[in-house]
Amino acid sequence: MRECIFIKVLMPKLIIDKREVDAPEGVSVLEAAQSVGIVIPHFCWHPALGKAGACRVCAVKMLDGPVKGIQMSCMLPVQEGMVVSTTDPDAVAMRRQVIEWLMINHPHDCPVCDEGGECQLQDFTIAGGHGIRRFDGPKRTHVNQYLGPNIEHEMNRCIQCYRCVRFYQEHAGGSDFGVMGSAGRVYFGRFEHGPLESPFSGNLVDICPTGVFTDRTARFRARYWDYDMAPSVCPGCSVGCNITPVARYRELLKIVARRNDRVNGWFICDRGRFAPKEANDPLRPRTPLVDGREASWEEAEDALLRRLNEIVELYGEGSVLVVGSSRLPFEGASLLPLLSGVLSSGAPGWFATRRETRAAHAAVSLMTRENGASMADVMNAGCIAIYESDLREEGPMLLLAVRQAWRRGAPVLLVGEHSPLEQTRAVGIEAVQLHYMEEAPLAIFDRPVVIAGTKHGDPEVMAMLDRTGARIAALFPGPNGFGAALLSAEQGGGPVGAALASGRVKGLVAVEADIPAELLEGIPVVAALDWRATSAVQAAAIVLPTTAPVESDGTYVNFEGRAQKFCRVIRPGLPVKGLDPAGHPPRVHEAAPPGGDLRPAWRVISDLVRLAGGTPPEEPLSGRWARLAGLDPEGEGMVLGGRVLPNDA
Ligand code: FES
Repeated sequence: MRECIFIKVLMPKLIIDKREVDAPEGVSVLEAAQSVGIVIPHFCWHPALGKAGACRVCAVKMLDGPVKGIQMSCMLPVQEGMVVSTTDPDAVAMRRQVIEWLMINHPHDCPVCDEGGECQLQDFTIAGGHGIRRFDGPKRTHVNQYLGPNIEHEMNRCIQCYRCVRFYQEHAGGSDFGVMGSAGRVYFGRFEHGPLESPFSGNLVDICPTGVFTDRTARFRARYWDYDMAPSVCPGCSVGCNITPVARYRELLKIVARRNDRVNGWFICDRGRFAPKEANDPLRPRTPLVDGREASWEEAEDALLRRLNEIVELYGEGSVLVVGSSRLPFEGASLLPLLSGVLSSGAPGWFATRRETRAAHAAVSLMTRENGASMADVMNAGCIAIYESDLREEGPMLLLAVRQAWRRGAPVLLVGEHSPLEQTRAVGIEAVQLHYMEEAPLAIFDRPVVIAGTKHGDPEVMAMLDRTGARIAALFPGPNGFGAALLSAEQGGGPVGAALASGRVKGLVAVEADIPAELLEGIPVVAALDWRATSAVQAAAIVLPTTAPVESDGTYVNFEGRAQKFCRVIRPGLPVKGLDPAGHPPRVHEAAPPGGDLRPAWRVISDLVRLAGGTPPEEPLSGRWARLAGLDPEGEGMVLGGRVLPNDA
């Protein structure tokens, strides 16, 4: 007989601004109002950090019901029968006065402030009707600190909302930044000048409701309304955090976090946020090259096919290798086998070593929708084992998720020689180190999760993880690692390093692949499709320049098998600012921007296949991948499972 469990969800009914609202028990009046689109000003409350009651700007008037009078809406849980007004004159006056108090010490300098235009304090000050400074005393001032090359400190702007310290210490486990002082002279900073140590310090920039912390790398470069922006996915690792790249005049200026509750929540790591802006690199390939000489696309594509066909004629089938990578978007990756086919070169190679290839195949083969771990599974785990992985490098946001589980009482186990203790120290976690997975007592905990790095992971242990009953999060070396592993496992792709070292490869096509220079020595024909100035591009006789992720639409499949769409932010071309050491880009009048004759990798692969007599699909994501073509870039993505994918997608 089936057992039925009835869970009673209490939904108190209240009235906010004459609208009836049903809100789940436990949420605040502020959140209940937000759920029906009523905005109540707030500074200290944050969805990811909760309430603090520090800023007093969320005042509302309780007209009737169990609570009466002026109340802070973020601190007040909803109750049956409440009658709330956000527009009552008393509430409006209270909020206006609070803003005026906050502005007594805040500089009235929005027009020259680097936060101007993207400042919550500015917005609510204007919305609250405060425009004239009545207080004529001196403003309180502070000395700013040097917090490293990425974050600017401007303490005079602080309104003491405590968001920064709550994020830094409680959420991210940092210990080198805090709040000092008392009464009207509190100071948010470090005990001494120096770079912030948390690998998540950049979130202070996003979380500060005013301009105390700003991104130094992009200060005074543009105003919010000048920005080119689009929804995107971080290419820094396989976690797939949602980001918004910010650009102007074809120059990528900065990266900010974009909310996705299924992946990164509200935050991103510093590794993704402050990564070098390679799309701006003046040395990246921007024109097709044949033997170091600029050529047309047609000439370069003809040369590539002709020379590689000669290699096949001379050395036989299998003498040409096509290499993809974990950073190649899924559009190009899914077409790569077609290119291998027309070049008679067998399955493409994706991963560097035999161990990594086998671990990636094992990981992607054992993961299903049922046993794959999402970010939420990690945060709610009863026990977590980090197997052969340093999450600071391989998936920093998973480390932040591990901390949230640890705060709820989950023990954290570090397994294997490549799982250093420093990673958990960086987020204030006390972890236990083990030598082998077999020592981890996962079975005695509810909801165990194993986070496994495929770079150093043992393939046999990866396969064994399935039997532990734990949910599994396998980390791959790049943003489309799961996609690459899936295709590689299906087609039987071998390790690239071993193939190149064998001496059998006489022709190579590196498609957005990072291959060590020493492995390229002695290969008669090297061709590279890339947007980075890699060693393959340096060594290549034929270079076909591709678009960077910010210059094209695409799809990455993250560690859990979640396919996510990213969008073009800027039109390809040399930045107007002239990052080129030679100065401003050429002042020529052409339809295309200078240096902008780039094509997405999938388009180049498709053209090569067609020129070689093959039949590429009209669209890059077609056939069994067609469902991915319609993904909403602002949605949650679509989770694929390694085992179920071939018949399911
Ligand atoms: Fe309610 Fe700050 S948002 S007191």
